Amino acid sequence: MRTIFLIGFMGSGKSSVVHYLAERLDVCHKDTDEEIIKMHGPIASIFENYGEETFRRFETNVLKKMPVEDAVIATGGGIIEKEVNRSWLMEHGIVVHLHTTWGEINRRLVDDESRPLWQLHDKEQLFENRQSKYKNTADISIVTDGKSPEEIATEILRIIKMENMDKLHS
Ligand code: S3P
Repeated sequence: MRTIFLIGFMGSGKSSVVHYLAERLDVCHKDTDEEIIKMHGPIASIFENYGEETFRRFETNVLKKMPVEDAVIATGGGIIEKEVNRSWLMEHGIVVHLHTTWGEINRRLVDDESRPLWQLHDKEQLFENRQSKYKNTADISIVTDGKSPEEIATEILRIIKMENMDKLHS
């Protein structure tokens, strides 16, 4: 099966849903942020010491090493910022956008201090600016508000099977 890549804003539930999907499909799961942390240390330190551009470079390098068969991958919320990442994703996998409303994201991340870009004042603008990039990169978009990670995983699998996306090759 082609790899499923989960995209979506910070707090949209990618890291939870990836586990359920991988279990249901009996494939491995990975997370681009976790791979970056393994190689380069905490994300906040990378931003602080080297800046966002360096983080984005690490992110593209990690993305291009992800398996393109039999895996489910959670990506960082900003993966869609670079055109090279958007093209790579569209070419190499089934891309699923977890769409969570701004109100719900705000509730979930209200106390979060671990994400450097969540500390910005204009994060709602960031959210708005990214919506078209998520939408244009994704094969499937799922509204996640009020749904459990299990329900979201079930919905994704239903659509993939219905559309025969698991049978297509890139
Ligand atoms: C980022 C989202 C984070 C992480 C980094 C940058 C972003 O991942 O990659 O802090 O630009 O939105 P999550 O979406 O898993 O929080």
